[in-house]
Amino acid sequence: MKVLVVGSGGREHAMAWKLAQSNKVERVYVAPGNGGTAGEAKCENVESPGGDPAKAEVQEALAVFAKNAGVDLTVVGPEAPLAADIAGRFRAAGLAVTGPGAAEARLESSKVYAKSFMEKYGIRAARSAAFTGAAEALAAVQSRFSAGAETGAAPLVIKADGLAAGKGVVITADQDEAERTIRSFMEDGALGEAGKTLVLEEYLEGREISVLAAVSVRPGQKGTILPFVSARDHKRRFDGDRGPNTGGMGAIAPVPDFNAAAQRDFEEAILLPTLKGMEAEAFDYRGFIFFGLMARGDTCHLLEYNVRLGDPETQAVLPLMDADFAGLCAAIEGGTLGDFSLAWKTGAVCAPVAAAAGYPGAYRGGDRISLDRRAFEKTGAILFAAGAVRDGGAETPGGELETGLRTAGGRVLAVSAWGVNGTEARQKAYQALQAVSFEGMAYRSDIGAA
Ligand code: AMP
Ligand code: GLY
Repeated sequence: MKVLVVGSGGREHAMAWKLAQSNKVERVYVAPGNGGTAGEAKCENVESPGGDPAKAEVQEALAVFAKNAGVDLTVVGPEAPLAADIAGRFRAAGLAVTGPGAAEARLESSKVYAKSFMEKYGIRAARSAAFTGAAEALAAVQSRFSAGAETGAAPLVIKADGLAAGKGVVITADQDEAERTIRSFMEDGALGEAGKTLVLEEYLEGREISVLAAVSVRPGQKGTILPFVSARDHKRRFDGDRGPNTGGMGAIAPVPDFNAAAQRDFEEAILLPTLKGMEAEAFDYRGFIFFGLMARGDTCHLLEYNVRLGDPETQAVLPLMDADFAGLCAAIEGGTLGDFSLAWKTGAVCAPVAAAAGYPGAYRGGDRISLDRRAFEKTGAILFAAGAVRDGGAETPGGELETGLRTAGGRVLAVSAWGVNGTEARQKAYQALQAVSFEGMAYRSDIGAA
């Protein structure tokens, strides 16, 4: 079987790595991939139809490539190509693809659509209202903050409707900040079209949990949804959840505080109603879904859907999967997910991210990434590259090995280490991270700390 992975991040490296482990898989193409996928066994980056896979012409070129190369299945990593209907385009060309089409991808690409879906199917979520005009949104903010100290004191969450690369959600502390945010999104067009419509949402306290799941729903048929082990991203840049938001500074799986009662609550209040909603809407949803949860005690609320696997959650979750990932992707696509037996390894994975100095602000690239291979291998960790490109390094006599990688992005790489429990996983992950170095390497030292 030949597989094509679309994307270039750490998530896609982890997907390619896991796909390549399958006996069924002879080749994994990654478009465009990164320096890590270029060096992975059985993997090959696809440069020729290059460019951004969210663009229609690149998607057309990739479909031609997939046909010519005899690709049996394409698995899409990021949201932007899905929102731009790469799955619809591939299916129209007779190609098998794991990932939802643009209509279903609105669960992520439109917050307004996602909130209306949650409401329609009784999925437990934060209370919210959608606005298409700044005047109405500002009026709603004014009446909320004048309604009394009790509600007015709590933060208000403002969400741009469209995809905004992590910049579309602002947790505003007071009326002034809420009004400024609304003006900047709706009047000044700070996020372009994405911010012209927005959602005002109540703020929820709690601990965030990510649940990724495989979904196979076809119109007129009963669907299947299989949740993965839980994971937790660490979105703020600095230890103790301080500092600016990032794409994710590290992940753990599973989440120790997501206990059996909370899992049951999630299934009843969120997971199963989501599946019912997809069936009722006659979705053709063959792909992954990501539930962004806020848990307080054993009660879960849904903050958001993503129509793909999470990054960096995938780098922590896939090393725990005790099943053939290529087989899983094929079962999702072929409608046989109900017969697939998805199993998980015991223990835990901790996956801290190493970022370039300055990230998430301006950062430089081009620094050599080196690795003390012996020290790294002792930990059994895996290195998943993200913002890193291949550079043809060479082994040095002392055992120091240039990885052959140079930095080329904000989040440069993640190391994923397994342990019998979270504590051991964390210890091994940080040991592994000590074996990696590049100029200005920056990371959080509390990924997975309780
Ligand atoms: P989203 O893009 O919806 O995932 O939002 C980004 C981040 O904002 C989430 O991961 C949460 O940390 C935070 N967030 C979103 N909605 C809420 C909410 N209603 N209450 C508290 N935090 C939220
Ligand atoms: N880790 C959050 C995301 O992938 O959106």
